[in-house]
This record gives sequence, C-alpha cells and structure tokens, in this order.
Amino acid sequence: MTNLPMSTSTDTVIREGRRQDAPRLAELMAEGLRTRFSDLGPSVVTLLHRHMITSRHCLCVVAERQGRVAGYAAVLTSGGDFYREFLLRKGVLCGLLALPRLFRLSNLRTVYTAMTYFPSAGHDDPSAELVSLVVDRTTQGSGVGREIWDGIIRGLRARGITEFKITTDVGNERANRMYQTRGCRLVREEPLYHDSKVNVYFYRL
Ligand SMILES: CC(C)(COP(=O)(O)OP(=O)(O)OC[C@H]1O[C@@H](n2cnc3c(N)ncnc32)[C@H](O)[C@@H]1OP(=O)(O)O)[C@@H](O)C(=O)NCCC(=O)NCCS
Repeated sequence: MTNLPMSTSTDTVIREGRRQDAPRLAELMAEGLRTRFSDLGPSVVTLLHRHMITSRHCLCVVAERQGRVAGYAAVLTSGGDFYREFLLRKGVLCGLLALPRLFRLSNLRTVYTAMTYFPSAGHDDPSAELVSLVVDRTTQGSGVGREIWDGIIRGLRARGITEFKITTDVGNERANRMYQTRGCRLVREEPLYHDSKVNVYFYRL
C-alpha cells in the first residue's frame, strides 16, 4: 500500500482498500462489471481482490458512503508483475477454488483469455492498467465515480506513475463518456473475448 492522500467530501470518504473490503469489492465487480471472470465464482473473485488490495503492484481505491463501500477502482501498476505474483502466491488455491467451474467451456475460455490477453499487452502500451472501476448501481450518477477517479490520479502520482491504460466495452456509453471527458486518449478498438470488443484508452498524468 502507498499512502494515498485521503479525501473526504460531505458524504464520501476516498481511501485505499483494506483486506476486509475484499468480499464487498468482489460483489461490486460481479454485479457491476459482469465480467466473465466472475463466472469462476465469488471465492475466486474475492481471492483476486484480496491480492489487489495487498499487492504492491496494485493501487486499490475505495469510496465509502455512510460506512458502506459504494464503489472502487483497481489499477495494476505493472500487470506482468501483478499476475506473476498472483500465480506464484495464490495460483494453486485459485485453481482449486475454480476447479468445479472449469469443466464449462466458457469458463476455460475466460481463463485462457486472462492468461494470454491481459499479461501480453501491446508492446507500446503503458505497463499500468485500470482493470476495474465500479460504483454500486444505487449510487451511480451522483459523482462517486468522479471522486474515485480523482483518488486514482492522486494515488498514482504518489507512486510516480506517469501513464496508464484503460479498456472498456465499446458499448459502455457511460464509461466511455467518463474516460473521454477526463481526457483519456482513444488509441484503438480490439476484440477481447470471442464475441466482444473493447476501446483501449491511454491516460497521461
Ligand atoms: C462508469 C461508472 C464507474 C461511473 O461512475 P458514476 O458514479 O456513475 O459516475 P459519476 O456520477 O461520478 O460521473 C462520472 C462521469 O460518468 C459519465 N456519466 C455519468 N452519468 C452518465 C450518464 N447518465 N450518461 C452518460 N455519461 C454519464 C460522465 O462523463 C461523468 O463525468 P462528467 O459529469 O464530469 O462528464 C459507473 O456508472 C459504473 O460503475 N458503471 C458500471 C460499471 C462500469 O461500466 N465500469 C467501467 C468499466 S471499465
């Protein structure tokens, strides 16, 4: 963890994630992003989030409202180092937790994509990447996403990161709008899973 300069607006506290936040962050990802990774089950997604919170290769920023986590974002400051560390420290446990669901072809495809697409970014891509940004559905549209974004920028500056990458589904209007209005540069569109496409943005701090 770095020392993320804290921010408190009238009703939102922006802080770094804590180990005990992991199940709630996993729930937010499963509900809000509906990534195929979530099909591997809540225990696998919680394990990944616990690693995001504790790894020095990840910045995890959380927005708390009235004592409840209302949203969060995770930026891998070095995707390659993060995934290597995850596989080394939690790979066996992750495999065991995911095992019952690996018999489904769609889940095997998800694992294959996670192992190949994410670690093998384009050669000129920044090594830092925003891999998750979610606000609770009941809170969306009230400025929490904006506050989390500002928290990410403060946290990354504190770590000396100068650029990061973002991918989002081409059809995700709200997210695309958010990144464009924040000055993110659209660099390409590319396939992710066999039936979906993402916009790839770079953001320079
Ligand atoms: C995308 C998301 C994180 C934005 O957070 P939010 O709290 O709803 O958004 P905010 O109210 O803070 O507004 C942030 C920006 O989102 C965009 N936005 C918000 N509401 C919008 C709407 N109804 N229509 C279009 N754009 C919208 C705007 O660009 C806004 O910034 P601006 O007002 O300065 O232009 C949130 O909607 C979410 O969790 N969506 C589901 C998960 C997701 O798609 N995550 C991104 C995947 S990479």
